[in-house]
Amino acid sequence: MRVLGIESSCDETAAAVVERSQGGLSIVANVVHSQVEAHAPFGGVVPEIASREHVARIVDVVERALAGAGGIETIDAIAVTRGPGLIGSLLVGLQVAKGLAMARRLPWVGVNHLEGHLSAALLADTPPPYPHVALVVSGGHSNLYLVSGFGSYRHLGGTRDDAAGEAFDKVAKLLGLGYPGGVRVEATAKGGDPGAVSLPRSLPAKKSYDFSFSGLKTAAAVRLKRTGVPEGRALSDFCASLQEAIADVLTKKAVLAAKKHKVGGVVLAGGVAANTRLRELMVERCEAKGLWAFVPPKALCTDNAAMIAAVGLLRLEHGERSAFDTSALSRWPLGDAGELSPLVKPWKKKTDVAS
Ligand code: KG4
Ligand code: ZN
Repeated sequence: MRVLGIESSCDETAAAVVERSQGGLSIVANVVHSQVEAHAPFGGVVPEIASREHVARIVDVVERALAGAGGIETIDAIAVTRGPGLIGSLLVGLQVAKGLAMARRLPWVGVNHLEGHLSAALLADTPPPYPHVALVVSGGHSNLYLVSGFGSYRHLGGTRDDAAGEAFDKVAKLLGLGYPGGVRVEATAKGGDPGAVSLPRSLPAKKSYDFSFSGLKTAAAVRLKRTGVPEGRALSDFCASLQEAIADVLTKKAVLAAKKHKVGGVVLAGGVAANTRLRELMVERCEAKGLWAFVPPKALCTDNAAMIAAVGLLRLEHGERSAFDTSALSRWPLGDAGELSPLVKPWKKKTDVAS
C-alpha cells in the first residue's frame, strides 16, 4: 500500500509518500516547506499568517511529493493531520486531503500529530521493539508515554506549564536570538560551558513523570534583567547551560519511567529531539542504565508528513477510515489520564486497501 501524507498543523507545510515494502515502511517522497521566513519578523508563529501560508504553499508541496512518487495514480490512500494544532492551519491540510480523496475516490484517515511524532521511529530500517517508553518533546507538548504496541499509548506524564520547545523559544526571545528559538539556542551554545550558569531543574514529585519549565524561563528572565543580555562567550555559556538544564530533566524522567515500567528502552521524538545535546545525553543515560535509546534522524523529528503517512498506512491496514464530516481538533490528547487512547480499538478486522 502507498499512502500520501499531508501535514499542516503549525508552521510547516508538508507532504510525503510512504509505502509498505518487504514488511517495513519506506519513504518514497518527503517534501517540507518551512514557514520560518514568514514568521521570523514577528519572533514567533502568527496563526493567521500560518494559515495563509499553508493555503499559498500546499498545492505545490503536494504536487512535488506526488511527482517524486510517480504521480497520484500510484497512491492508494491519504493520511492527514487532524489535530492537535492551530485550527486554521489544520483545516487547510484537511480540506486538501478530503478534496483529493473525493476526486480520486480514495480512502483517507485523519491522524493524531503526536502519534505521528511517536511513529517517526517506525520509518527506520530496524524500528525499535515494543514495549518502550517514548518522550515526545515539541513546541506545544512534552509528554512521556508507555507504548506497548502501535496504537497503544499510556500517558505517563506531561508538562504542567510550558513545553520544552516553548522554554527554548521563550528564552531565545529574551536573549534576542529570535525565532526559531530552539535551533538558534543550539547554534549559539556551540563551544559554551554547560555548567557556567546555574539554572533550576524542576522535577515535580519524584514519583510523577510530569515536567515543569515555566520556573526555568522565569529564572532566566530574572537573571537577564539583573545582568543584562550576555554577549560573545558569555552568551554561548548561557545557551549551553539552558540546553543542559532542559536535556537534564527530560532524560532523567524518561530513564526513570523506562526503569519503573521495566521496558527495554526509550524512543525520543518531536522537534526538540533534533537537539544534539538532548540526543547525546539520552543515549548516554540510557546506556548507563542498560537501556537502549532510539533517536530518529533529525529531519523526522521536526514536523514532516512522512510520520503522518506512516501512521495513516498502519491504521488504514487495520481497516480504519475517516468520514467526510470528520473535523479538525485543536486539542486531541493521546492516551490521556493513564488510559489507553480512545483512538485505539483492539483491531480485529484486517481490510487491505486494494492496490
Ligand atoms: O515538533 P515541532 O517541529 O513542531 C510542533 O509540533 O510543535 O517542534 C517545534 C519545536 C520548537 O519549539 C523548536 O524551537 C524546537 O522544536 N526545536 C528545537 C530544535 N529544533 C527544533 N529545540 C532545540 N534544539 C533544536 N535543534
Ligand atoms: Zn510537531
